[in-house]
Amino acid sequence: MAVRDIVTVGHPVLRERAREVTPEELATAEVQQLIDDLIDTMHAANGAGIAANQIGVPLRITTIEVNQNPRYPYKPPIPLTVVVNPVIEFLDDELVEINEGCLSVPNLRGNVMRHVNIRVRYLDRDGVAHDAVKRGLTAGTFQHECDHLDGKLFLDRVTDPTTFTTWEQFERFHRDAFVERITEFVRRVGS
Ligand code: NI
Repeated sequence: MAVRDIVTVGHPVLRERAREVTPEELATAEVQQLIDDLIDTMHAANGAGIAANQIGVPLRITTIEVNQNPRYPYKPPIPLTVVVNPVIEFLDDELVEINEGCLSVPNLRGNVMRHVNIRVRYLDRDGVAHDAVKRGLTAGTFQHECDHLDGKLFLDRVTDPTTFTTWEQFERFHRDAFVERITEFVRRVGS
């Protein structure tokens, strides 16, 4: 059990492409400990996901979990998922505008376009291969976390800078309209 410090925007490790993990590395006590630390850190920060480079380790590992998340109460649940060496494929051209935040970008949110339907292939912490289709906000969460592993932040994908808000101003002025729109979207496409 260890909650690690989260690296914030401006640190070069967030801008590097993280490297693949070999099956041998994945089985080591060090990498298994890293995965436990990612989960603990994600939970402590109420994140929907966290990537290894967000705690300063440039390996292609991210953990994702949504369960009544106070930062994102409108997100459908995602069981705890350990994602190693993910590869995302877009299944079509459908996009949705999602308001995002990030543990590495304190107190800022903004609107980004994400693919609605994706296929993601990855290994779990035991090295077992998974091949899954994700949709809607869940697909958005996977894209956000996988972006981290390529050195990308949601900031890079905000095409309209006037959508940037602090969390306080999001709550005051933008949350209701966004939640109404995205709840309707979730009802339509599921997750
Ligand atoms: Ni993030």
